[in-house]
Amino acid sequence: MSNWTLYEGDCLKVMRELPDNSVDAVVTDPPYGIDLQPQRGRTKPIVGDRKDEAQVLWRAFVPECYRLLKPNTAALFFAGWSEAWVPQLLAEWFTVKACIVWRKNVWGIGYYTRPQHEFIWYCHKGKPPVPDRAESDVWDAPRVPHPKHACEKPVALMRRAVRFVSPVGGTILDPFAGVGSTLVAAIEEGRNVIGIEIEPEYCEIIRQRMAAVQQPLPLA
Ligand SMILES: C[S@@+](CC[C@H](N)C(=O)[O-])C[C@H]1O[C@@H](n2cnc3c(N)ncnc32)[C@H](O)[C@@H]1O
Repeated sequence: MSNWTLYEGDCLKVMRELPDNSVDAVVTDPPYGIDLQPQRGRTKPIVGDRKDEAQVLWRAFVPECYRLLKPNTAALFFAGWSEAWVPQLLAEWFTVKACIVWRKNVWGIGYYTRPQHEFIWYCHKGKPPVPDRAESDVWDAPRVPHPKHACEKPVALMRRAVRFVSPVGGTILDPFAGVGSTLVAAIEEGRNVIGIEIEPEYCEIIRQRMAAVQQPLPLA
């Protein structure tokens, strides 16, 4: 059986309480620093999403992720394309190995170009084992049709992320859990997971989602 743990609170405080070298992977989707506005009142603004706030936040949590990861492990950090400071900051701690593109099935709005993708920075701490087969760096996944969160990621996308960076039975950390897409994906893929989320209402949604998650069947 895989286990999940949810901490309701500020990830900087929670992470500081966790021991060095204790997780097998980080998969996280932090505030991008783009001041995302909610869509027609259906979802609300993201805590920490102003550019100045996000830069302070990333500068504080990235070293904590590095400290918590075991040696020779990998991390995936979601970010927007326009935050050029993100890979620079990650490179102060990690070896930035690739920029994976999440290609969506729908286009956003724009006068000259219409956004259809987001970035996922793939980073190493040390040298993780080489997989049997290398992955494409373009991952297709349809957007969540009726999201409960302005940045909710599809579980299919997060399952691919989880499989890519962690061994079965390993422990994944997501310090910006939102409504828990990484947690659901991790349990469905047979991993343990630690999520942290500052907004109580999203934590409640996570608890409800986790109550319905199916563990994979044990091998006969
Ligand atoms: C981009 S969203 C993550 C969405 C998530 N991937 C999902 O699919 O639901 C970032 C989340 O980080 C949370 N957050 C912002 N600052 C935080 C902090 N200091 N500690 C913990 N969570 C925080 C926000 O409330 C928001 O839900």
